[in-house]
Amino acid sequence: MKLTIIGTGYVGLVSGTCFAEVGHQVVCVDNDAAKVKMLQAGGIPIYEPGLEEMVKKNVAAGRLSFTNSTAEGVEKSDIIFIAVPTPPQADGSVDLSFIERVARDIANSMTAYKIIVDKSTVPVKTGDKVAETIKRYCRTKVEFDVVSNPEFLREGFAVEDLMHPDRVVIGVRSPRPIEAMKEIYVPFKAPIIVTDINSAELIKHAANSFLALKISYINAIANICEAAGANVQEVANGIGLDERIGRRFLNAGIGFGGSCFPKDLSAFIKIAETIGYDFRLLKEVQRLNAEQMDRFVKKITETLWVLKDKKIGVLGLAFKQNTDDIRSSPAIDLCQRLLKEGATLRVHDPKAMDKAKAMLPNVTYVADMNDVAEGCDAIVVATEWDDFKKLDLDRAKDALTHPIMFDGRNLFDPAEMESRGWVYKSIGR
Ligand code: UDX
Repeated sequence: MKLTIIGTGYVGLVSGTCFAEVGHQVVCVDNDAAKVKMLQAGGIPIYEPGLEEMVKKNVAAGRLSFTNSTAEGVEKSDIIFIAVPTPPQADGSVDLSFIERVARDIANSMTAYKIIVDKSTVPVKTGDKVAETIKRYCRTKVEFDVVSNPEFLREGFAVEDLMHPDRVVIGVRSPRPIEAMKEIYVPFKAPIIVTDINSAELIKHAANSFLALKISYINAIANICEAAGANVQEVANGIGLDERIGRRFLNAGIGFGGSCFPKDLSAFIKIAETIGYDFRLLKEVQRLNAEQMDRFVKKITETLWVLKDKKIGVLGLAFKQNTDDIRSSPAIDLCQRLLKEGATLRVHDPKAMDKAKAMLPNVTYVADMNDVAEGCDAIVVATEWDDFKKLDLDRAKDALTHPIMFDGRNLFDPAEMESRGWVYKSIGR
């Protein structure tokens, strides 16, 4: 099928590439001319496992192309996906100006029936607004359908999630686009839910908020475990085997971050407020998440006492493993707090160091994780990279003035660390 994707961010680029991978003919549109040039030349603006190879393969096969002309994208396909950013505003609500702009651009170029599919995460009822906008700005009287098709990919696993989705949600206002939408997803062999647009839009916010709530729940349990002398990982295993709960997203840590959970929680609270519901449960999730970082910083200061002039080695800058993304990263927040207390930092991340430099200019970037501990008073683990489990602990111990580790992601075994002579503080254990 011929598909156009407007926006080549995480969602747009990965969706477009995976659609091409299963045989669709895909045009990706972006208004950033430099980015389009880079993509046309085989460059990838983000780090995502497996993506670069897949883009190259599909460009070479003639199934994937890039342009900065929306008109060209609209002309070439009958199905146009909108995958542009929906950033947060100061009051927590969502800035929908990119969506509105794209809706107008599509309307201006439409000369025949089109299905316009929203893939960006948007507040409930945005589909109605998109439909109104297109109707208003369309020069000729052409028919169209607006569809909501939220994307659930995780950064770092985007290709994997796109190729093997748990479910595909299709929200429609009329039956006409259903068959075409289903046909796009046949090769992905996932359960397809067809529903109304408002429900489809709500599914996305409800899913992300629930996952954030799950993380805050286990972080709260971790705090109780610390006070009671229990182990949060044992508790997570014990409750996670109940199929109704599930073990995933029960890893305690220094809180969730990233470009989705914090933003989507604020947006959902705001959306609920506008329709007259005070979503106090989610406000508490936000509070717990902020408190989790406060508690970790307190743990560090309780042991190291004064941080002024202390040298600390930090492992991890990305908001989670397998990504170079530092947006709303708890690790960056932690570094900024330690710097504010007067500490000097030696930091390492397998992928995110380049992106971190603008936000953290006054730290020492260390290329090899095994050199981070050099001359430091303690090491802190801030991101859950699997690589960090391979840290040379004996070398780190020798390089530190005292063998102290604060593990904000529970990567090491407390008993083993203690038997190796470490002062080891983790979360909920
Ligand atoms: C999330 C959703 O998972 C995805 O479905 C949606 O489309 C976009 O938002 P993403 O932001 O890429 O994806 O990351 P995710 O893997 O969900 O992790 C989010 C944050 O939660 C990270 O900071 C991570 O470290 C933290 N986390 C995750 C935990 O602290 N504990 C866990 O058990 C899981």
